[in-house]
Amino acid sequence: MADGTDPTQPAPITGAVKMSELTSPWGLEGLSIVVMGAGGGGIGTSISRFLGHAGASVVAVDIDDEKLKVCTDALEADGTTHIGLIADGRDKAAVAEVVDKACELAPLRGSVQVAGGMWPPQWSPFASDDPAFDDVMALNFGSTVNTVRAVGRRLVEQGNGGTLCNIATTSALNGMPYGSAYAASKAAVLSLTRSLAIEWGSRNIRINAVAPGSIATPKSASTRKAGDTDRNDLEVIPMRRRGTSDDIAKGVLFMMSDMSAYVTGQVLCVDGGTSVRPTYNDSEELPVFVHNEELRARLKDW
Ligand SMILES: NC(=O)c1ccc[n+]([C@@H]2O[C@H](COP(=O)([O-])OP(=O)(O)OC[C@H]3O[C@@H](n4cnc5c(N)ncnc54)[C@H](O)[C@@H]3O)[C@@H](O)[C@H]2O)c1
Repeated sequence: MADGTDPTQPAPITGAVKMSELTSPWGLEGLSIVVMGAGGGGIGTSISRFLGHAGASVVAVDIDDEKLKVCTDALEADGTTHIGLIADGRDKAAVAEVVDKACELAPLRGSVQVAGGMWPPQWSPFASDDPAFDDVMALNFGSTVNTVRAVGRRLVEQGNGGTLCNIATTSALNGMPYGSAYAASKAAVLSLTRSLAIEWGSRNIRINAVAPGSIATPKSASTRKAGDTDRNDLEVIPMRRRGTSDDIAKGVLFMMSDMSAYVTGQVLCVDGGTSVRPTYNDSEELPVFVHNEELRARLKDW
């Protein structure tokens, strides 16, 4: 061809890098990342550890000093760069201070919004005068809004792009009876994620969400009664196991790093396949309307 390329050969991939030539594929070295809700040894702690191992300077933030210490002790043992800060994600002034301190530690790369959840006393029929609704919204949506706004504003000022990741839940994709505040607050988080991806895309500030399924964490263990088993949970999870905090952290590391350089506004479900499982499947993962015994036997026997 006129430009010297051979049309019978595949075109070179623009910007392709060989993995073997990369010292770190993450692109996080020497950059600070705020993890809001880092404590307690669950999802936030795993995320902090994975980001630290990938080279980020982690700003671990929690409202509870004992829970924060669980995380900072782990980061200390890992030998990764970090600071621990006590702050309430619902408090705008406190979050602004966190961002200032993160920038003192290293240029800001972004943040992960983990603080959230719902406790058994907060489950409630919607038709009742649900006293917890506002609290659940304030924690799950309000603290995310505060953190994303403060971090996003600073990234815009810095002018070098950045990455943010919101922790949602697969319940945000469907309904959650008696937990409507939780599902609605996390659905709002997903909507915010999509809107900001568009607002900030041209500035190379990416924002994504990770939606965990059923994850075994110290918190989720604390809400189970002695003697509860995983049997019912496992039947509806195609991979037949609950997830771990590390499973979630791996998805977050992907979203926060350069490995997802062209991904923004997306929701990554880390749920062992639960969110794609049709509700009409039975416990053997066959559609309930497959009645023919011969057919059932053939489909199960592989
Ligand atoms: N565990 C699961 O099965 C599961 C499933 C789906 C989604 N999630 C989501 O993952 C996240 C973490 O879950 P987890 O099980 O590790 O919970 P967790 O309660 O152990 O972790 C949350 C941390 O956030 C901190 N926190 C709470 N309020 C805060 C505030 N106002 N400001 C700052 N920090 C605050 C808590 O002290 C705690 O250390 C939550 O957003 C939850 O909704 C969890």
